[in-house]
Amino acid sequence: MISQKEYALRREKLLKKLSCNSVGVVFSGEHKIRSNDTEYPFRQNSNFYYLCGFKEDKSALMFVKNKKISKTILFVAKKDKKLELWNGKRVGVKKAKKRFLVDEVFCIDDLQKHLKNCLDLADKLYFDFNLDYSKVKILKRYAKNLSTHKNIAPIIQKMRLIKSSSEIELIKKAIDITKEAHHSVMNMDKSGKNEYELVSEFEYIFKKNGAYSDAYTSIVACGNAANTLHYIQNDQPLKDGELILIDAGCEYDYYASDITRTISVSGRLNEPQKELYELVLNTQLEVIKMIKPHAMRSDLQRRAVELLTTGMVKLGILKGSVKKLIKKEKYKKYYPHGIGHWMGLDVHDECPYKHKKGKEIKLQEGMVLTIEPGIYIDKNDKKVPKKYRGIGIRIEDDILITKDSYENLSKDIIK
Ligand code: GLY
Ligand code: MN
Ligand code: MN
Repeated sequence: MISQKEYALRREKLLKKLSCNSVGVVFSGEHKIRSNDTEYPFRQNSNFYYLCGFKEDKSALMFVKNKKISKTILFVAKKDKKLELWNGKRVGVKKAKKRFLVDEVFCIDDLQKHLKNCLDLADKLYFDFNLDYSKVKILKRYAKNLSTHKNIAPIIQKMRLIKSSSEIELIKKAIDITKEAHHSVMNMDKSGKNEYELVSEFEYIFKKNGAYSDAYTSIVACGNAANTLHYIQNDQPLKDGELILIDAGCEYDYYASDITRTISVSGRLNEPQKELYELVLNTQLEVIKMIKPHAMRSDLQRRAVELLTTGMVKLGILKGSVKKLIKKEKYKKYYPHGIGHWMGLDVHDECPYKHKKGKEIKLQEGMVLTIEPGIYIDKNDKKVPKKYRGIGIRIEDDILITKDSYENLSKDIIK
């Protein structure tokens, strides 16, 4: 759990980064309609959640900074018995004042009034440039005399790069639940089953352990389906002799896990499957070994490309000199994605990869990233020896950068 103290420290840090005579606004997420009278399950906006841990919609944070004050105001929906009868209890202004260590709490209905008052004294407005147009319209109405509008999202997302020990605990918990699910599916008799039965097992184990959502839609792809990178159809029968690429991870108390394992329906890999599996696995292990503070993600990617391309030439999948194949990016046909991404409140944590001036951000203690090399060979690819066609393999782990090295947080999930 993240303490209210920690949220307060994050807000303090954000306020320090805002310029004097400014107002910043960060909105909660909104319910999204699925179809008539039904909604998708609500998920809080990650930047908003990072700053206060409040899980309700119809709320907002306002940061006010000038020479005299530096304060945070939380706006929440008011208590409403009739609405609460249908939609569940609201915290309300009174309780929110006690629960959150913000300077003031008001009803969300008063946001515009406060915004107008605060903006009268400011010359800069910060908000998320990705906001819905309806909200931007409101903000701009009150901020029309201001000289500058600034995007607040990248400032918060940069803070999210380095995980605190309590955030790491939550990520570990998410990975632990995900481990149970992957292992359960590995041990299952899968013969004669369908991809969706494996998805159900993941959902059951996630929910049973208090992870109410997956961190992304599970991919359970048997055989050639693994070559569709974001395959989420998950409705085909499992065929003996084929591999299943399973990319599935739960979200636990807002923190993600992101794990891929490629296993066999029958439990045994044939020779060509084994050759490709070993190439991907060795690449992953080699790349993980390079991880430490000051290492660069681009170097990890470069090394993965070198190893995979060299391996693919040896297996006759690519032909020619490794150097030229890399230069011409021929490997991209079989390894088309990156080596990994930041992970945290979002599975693809929206943190920056580059500094403002374009220089790459080096790895640092407290960052978490995935390492996920893969090889994907379409069943109709006549350029590749027949024995490899229709095989798709990815192996993905979640890695924490430590003081001098790294910790593979998902090392206990069998490979
Ligand atoms: N599960 C999405 C990814 O691996 O990036
Ligand atoms: Mn990933
Ligand atoms: Mn993944």
